Amino acid sequence: VNQNREQWGSRLGFILAAAGSAIGLGNIWMFPKTAGENGGGLFVLLYLLCVMVIGVPLMLAELAIGRASQSNAVGAFKKLTPGKPWFLTGGLGVLAGFLILSFYAVIGGWILIYLWDSITGLLTSQGMNTLTALNEHFTNRTTDPMYSILFYFIFMALTIFIVYKGIGEGIEKWSKILMPVLLGLLVLVIVRGLFLEGAMKGLEFLFVPRFEDFKPETLAGALSQAFFSLSLGMGAMITYGSYLKKNQNLPQSAVQVGGLDTLIGILAGMAIFPALLSINPDISPADMGGSGLIFKAFPQIFLEMFGGNALFAQIFAILFFVLVLIAALTSSISLLEVVTAYFVDERKFKRSHAAMIMGALIFIIGIPSALPTGAFDIVSSVTYDYMLPIGGFFISIYASWVWGRNRALIEIADGCKCFKLGILWHFILRWIAPFVIFQILLGKILIDLKVSESIRTTLQTVFTYTDAVLIGGALIAGIYFWFFKPASLVRDEKE
Ligand code: TRP
Repeated sequence: VNQNREQWGSRLGFILAAAGSAIGLGNIWMFPKTAGENGGGLFVLLYLLCVMVIGVPLMLAELAIGRASQSNAVGAFKKLTPGKPWFLTGGLGVLAGFLILSFYAVIGGWILIYLWDSITGLLTSQGMNTLTALNEHFTNRTTDPMYSILFYFIFMALTIFIVYKGIGEGIEKWSKILMPVLLGLLVLVIVRGLFLEGAMKGLEFLFVPRFEDFKPETLAGALSQAFFSLSLGMGAMITYGSYLKKNQNLPQSAVQVGGLDTLIGILAGMAIFPALLSINPDISPADMGGSGLIFKAFPQIFLEMFGGNALFAQIFAILFFVLVLIAALTSSISLLEVVTAYFVDERKFKRSHAAMIMGALIFIIGIPSALPTGAFDIVSSVTYDYMLPIGGFFISIYASWVWGRNRALIEIADGCKCFKLGILWHFILRWIAPFVIFQILLGKILIDLKVSESIRTTLQTVFTYTDAVLIGGALIAGIYFWFFKPASLVRDEKE
């Protein structure tokens, strides 16, 4: 074991850092919108199932691999299975980290632009409070290199600054400051919205199940969303897990991080929709798509929320964009950390050098994404639709088939003596997760190959039913094991 390798200072510090990685734009802009469009409460329910049955087990696998190896995403596979090509899974992860950060930080730049426009008061000035004006403003800002590149640069510099400082003094310290602030601001925004007349409409939109909005691809959508939102499939949790001390309870940590992430997604929906739908009940889902929800639809109502009081609206706008900024920043540092840890452990860079050099490289790679070139859509879809599911697929195969049940459960037993769901966990990673993830990939490939609609819908429907049976079965088995199977049974099998 490398004596100089850093470790998290405290349990809470680690949980907040990991939750900080998970909680990001996936929660604040994507989750509310996807839930609203895909059947409200129905989607929320499916999402919860995906997180519990696939997401949390996979997160546990990543954390265990990380802690067992005390090594970065590539080194972890090399240490646990030397001489085998499994480290390529980690390599794919490091590459994904590179690419995801290159467009994620572009959005971070947009957030900073909007924070700036809030501080100057422009965003909440009269005339800005219509969708048309905000649409135009968004296009102007994001296509003007003076803004898009400059603020993208600043966001990347902030990310580098934190990662440069390392685990304890950088990531952990800032997560401990920023995450509570995020929660506080979110509660503030929710409270303001819920007191508006007609706020119930927003809660209805988010929570009441609408079965007519259910599409065959809804379940697949929920799973992809869960992947991205939980920061899975590219070794981010392997890397964060590698800074853990041996006595930390891993299953509990995975549940807590998954729970916090889901909670914040739901709270974000409660912050945005009640206010939005109470003031603009006719808003169409199209206006919430992509960057619409946080950059156009929501800012449109700031003035009205405070009865036209420009000062209150402005303060609110600033708080809101600080909130979004925090969410994005604590996620982007985890992306850079995956890349940095690789260069520190495997290529013997100094941390400060690795963070700066790689951050600078990523910045350059992302410049096309910051300009209206179409690169943004390509990079985001290649990573989101392909690299993360492929990574998740191989990580679950690796943990369950290659690293294997005994070694995995022995690692987990450190800090968690009676993991009642151990056998089920292994079964999920071995059979259910790879199967479900593979279908999602296949579905995506069929779309990209432009296979005929009717074939796709049929397949997608078959998939959805199989998945429902698998996921439902795992849930029931989980309840059974938890309540009726004595913990000692699990431990005995292992010894
Ligand atoms: N989870 C973050 C979000 O919801 C994004 C993110 C950070 C991420 N690190 C990741 C996604 C690693 C996948 C893998 O916005």
